[in-house]
Amino acid sequence: MERICLLPCQSAGTIEPGIYGHFSEHIGGVFRDGVWVGEDASVPQTDGFRNFVIEKFRELNPPVLRWPGGCFAETYKWRDGIGPRDKRPVTMGWWYRNDGRLETNEVGIHEFTHFCEMVGAKPYVAANITGTTPMDMRDFMEYCNAPAGSTTLAKERGENGHEEPFDIPYWGIGNENWGGGGNMTPAQYAREYIKYVTLCDTVNLQGAKYVACGANAGDYRWTDGFMREYAHRVPLYALAFHYYCGASGDCVNFTKEQWDELVTRAGKLDDMIRRHSAAMELHDPEKKVKIIVDEWGCWHPGGSGPTKGFNLFEQQSTMRDGVITALSLNAFNNHCDRVVMANVAQLCNNLHCLFLTLGEDAIVTPTYWVFKMYKNHMGAKQIGTAIEGDKLSASASEKDGKITLTVANLSYEDEKEVEISLFGEGKKPESAVVTILGGDPHGHNTFDDPDAVKPMDPVTLQAADGKVTVKLPKASVALVEW
Ligand code: AHR
Repeated sequence: MERICLLPCQSAGTIEPGIYGHFSEHIGGVFRDGVWVGEDASVPQTDGFRNFVIEKFRELNPPVLRWPGGCFAETYKWRDGIGPRDKRPVTMGWWYRNDGRLETNEVGIHEFTHFCEMVGAKPYVAANITGTTPMDMRDFMEYCNAPAGSTTLAKERGENGHEEPFDIPYWGIGNENWGGGGNMTPAQYAREYIKYVTLCDTVNLQGAKYVACGANAGDYRWTDGFMREYAHRVPLYALAFHYYCGASGDCVNFTKEQWDELVTRAGKLDDMIRRHSAAMELHDPEKKVKIIVDEWGCWHPGGSGPTKGFNLFEQQSTMRDGVITALSLNAFNNHCDRVVMANVAQLCNNLHCLFLTLGEDAIVTPTYWVFKMYKNHMGAKQIGTAIEGDKLSASASEKDGKITLTVANLSYEDEKEVEISLFGEGKKPESAVVTILGGDPHGHNTFDDPDAVKPMDPVTLQAADGKVTVKLPKASVALVEW
């Protein structure tokens, strides 16, 4: 038997809801025929957005949605996405060379913020800083956030249908500026960051938060170099790194070894956060600057999704992705003293997605269900967990008198019997409610079998002296509510 002990006396702080964030880029089928189907579509939709996605996504209480990229952000001209939709220019976006698909600009800032409103997410805009100028980004911020009717740009926003400011609370200064975003050195990028924020902050009336481009995975040299040059010269909310654990074998028909390899790589996130944090601390001992994991997830070979490769990077999603989602969210929860936001890449018809769609068909993936099972953690007080056992990942929190534990059984082949106990004095709970997802490492949903993977009915377990024993099937995720 393995053991997990909850330690309510240990806490890293409050779990920012932002940790349950999302990312939607203009790439492949994320918007096109995914989230966005257009106002004339026969697919059930509201103002052009697919109802299935609106309804299911809203159920997750998504805290934040990052847009329009990714790499795409560095080729994006915000003015192309405003005004009458049929007059907007058709352009070659970042991904044109990969898939030959043109950007129609049907979804611009008005449409994007409307979608955010419908699902209840805060918009997070990643600005282009290599293909444009600081003044252009400043204009974009003024267009979005200036008071109704105040300036010419604010009036233009009103003429385009939105009198009131959009109040975009998060602005990313570029994307992957160590690579596609200008191939800069950390010091070069820090100078750009300082330049952009110095200028843009003069129109930042609502105190929007700035996010700087962080490292590629475990590139601590970038974190150190940026922090050294940045030296707290201008406001900075968080440094955002990206981590894709990559691929190992086919996305559905992988072996046990490939399962283990990918789970091990995903597990590196925990140490990566610790080490980025340590590199930042050298220059920011008070931990004023937070960490965002702007893009994370698996990156399997494309071609296994509904369009069989037509939509760039589209991939099927199995319980392997579900377990990796649980493992990653546990790591973010347990580092909530530093990590304030994390955006899984990407929302629909792409890498590690929550939704797969084709025409009128739409399904949710195991990743979707894990997000749903983890909802209690948002805004809760993280509490410590001590694990005695192998291939288990856990995090726990407390909110409004309820204790929530989420556990992933990382084993491809072994069921685990886990004794869960609550450490400390005081009244012990008499029962716990357990909900389990998974059991088949290759399990996944399809249009023909949309509920092949979904949470089992919750079961109430009687506790003895504050302890319950839970049987976790192989390749599963459990939610335990005390
Ligand atoms: O998510 C796909 C791409 O991966 C993003 O555009 C980029 O930021 C990253 O390299």
